[in-house]
Order: sequence, then structure tokens, then C-alpha cells
Amino acid sequence: MQILTINGAEHRIDAPPEMPLLWAIRDLVGLKGTKYGCGIAQCGACTLLINGLPQRSCVLPLSATVGRAITTIEGLDDRVGQAVKSAWAELAVPQCGYCQSGQVMAATGLLSRNPSPTDAEIADQMAGNICRCCTYHRVKQAVRRAADALA
Ligand code: FES
Ligand code: FES
Repeated sequence: MQILTINGAEHRIDAPPEMPLLWAIRDLVGLKGTKYGCGIAQCGACTLLINGLPQRSCVLPLSATVGRAITTIEGLDDRVGQAVKSAWAELAVPQCGYCQSGQVMAATGLLSRNPSPTDAEIADQMAGNICRCCTYHRVKQAVRRAADALA
């Protein structure tokens, strides 16, 4: 039994400690916003925040998340997260949408620790999140817009 804090609420998870967090989030807790892409930490679709930092939940064992604050796209409601979501909507960033939860979480993690990133820093951070629909340009525009809104 693991006790996880997800979006501010405690969840008792009856699963082995080595289970990837993504499995528990989606299949045991029922939060489907965090997506499965590659399963090997390469695409970023499963990105969520652990203590405010972007992490790949497909390779993160439950045991590594006990006692830490897990934030998924469903619970992203702080000032930075709101600014990112607003920028995403204003610029109509998503196409199919599959990668976008991970993109938003990665962007929020970036702006939470670096509110005024350079274009190079935005490109560097977001390069780890793959989008098969090639929304990369709008993603970078939206991160810039969110940063400007937070300034
Ligand atoms: S599903 Fe986790 S990085 Fe691709
Ligand atoms: S919007 Fe389709 S994969 Fe990114």
C-alpha cells in the first residue's frame, strides 16, 4: 500500500512500489489526462509535476513519489498553470491533443522556476516533448505569451 498526494488529496494505492506512477494515476486513480506515449522516458506525453518539477511518470516508481506533491493536468490551478492554460487556449495550440498535457506541464515547470526564460531556454526545455502534429511553433509562442502574462 502506497499513500500518494495527488492534486492536494491523499490516495491509498494498493500496488507494488515499483509500479510506474503513470499506471497508478491513469488506471487506479482514474485521472486520464496524463498520457502514455513511449513508456521509456523519451516523448514527454506522461509529464506531470513532482514538487513542482516536470517528471516522466512512465518511468517513475510509486516508491519515489511517496510524501511528495504530485500535480497532474487535472489539478493544475496555480497562477503559473492558469497562465499557461490561458495562453494555450488563446493560441489554439493543440491539434490532435495527445501530447498537450505533457507540453503544458513541462511549460508550467519551466515558468515556475524561470519566469522570464529566453527563447533558447524555452526551446531547450520544450525540445524534450514530442508532438507528432508538429505544434512546436505554437507551443513556443504560448510559453512566451504565458511568461509575458506573468511578468
Ligand atoms: S510515455 Fe513517458 S516519456 Fe513517453
Ligand atoms: S497535438 Fe497531436 S501529438 Fe501533439
